[in-house]
This record gives sequence, C-alpha cells and structure tokens, in this order.
Amino acid sequence: MYNERVMKEFAAPKNVGEVEGYNAIGTVGNESCGDIMQITMKIEDGVIKDAKFKTFGCAAAVASSSVATNMIIGKTVDEALKLTNRQVIEELEGLPPQKIHCSVLAEEAIAAAIQNYKENLEKQGN
Ligand code: FES
Repeated sequence: MYNERVMKEFAAPKNVGEVEGYNAIGTVGNESCGDIMQITMKIEDGVIKDAKFKTFGCAAAVASSSVATNMIIGKTVDEALKLTNRQVIEELEGLPPQKIHCSVLAEEAIAAAIQNYKENLEKQGN
C-alpha cells in the first residue's frame, strides 16, 4: 500500500525521540484514528535548531514526521508554520488517500510546538 520512498523513511526514520533541553513542545491527537504525535524543538532566536518526534501513529505518521522535522530544522518558526502536509506528501512521493490524515498530524504538532514556544516567550515578557 505504501510506495518505496515511504517504506524507506519508515524503516529508518530521522529525528525520533525528544530534543534535549527543548523549549517548544506540541502534542496533538487525530480524531479519526485516535493516534497521538508529539514534537519537541530547540528554538534559538526564532530559528529551529533541532526537532524530534514521538508518535503512536502508523507508518505514514512516522514517515511524515521524519520528513517534516527534517524540512523545518534550520528554518525560522514563521517559515516552519508555512509547511503543509501537501509538501510533506510531495516529499514522500505520495501517500494512499486513506493515509492523508496521518500527514496532518505532523503539521499540527509543529504548529502546536511553535504556539507553545510563542506562549513561553510571552510569559517571559519578550
Ligand atoms: Fe493514525 Fe496513521 S492511522 S496516524
């Protein structure tokens, strides 16, 4: 059901785990399947220095988060917020239609982590 690109990413996902000393965390759930995704990031001066993910999701969720985290490392938070699940799917050379929602998890977890970062900045009065 998955293409070779997705299988390769699933077999050797990048950025798995939790960023040490992270200052942004986002956890989201998917209503249709009940799976959960968490993304942690280390952000310095608005630039994402590192990003890692943990998920209870399926192979499509693992592959999507692997490429999505890779695509945002080195970007500013505003650039990262523009990343869409369509771009992630393009990078994966396609996902089965019934697995599109899994790629949305990565996009939403990134947005939630950045939101958390911004809230923390506000609390610190920046
Ligand atoms: Fe739940 Fe893919 S089926 S994340």
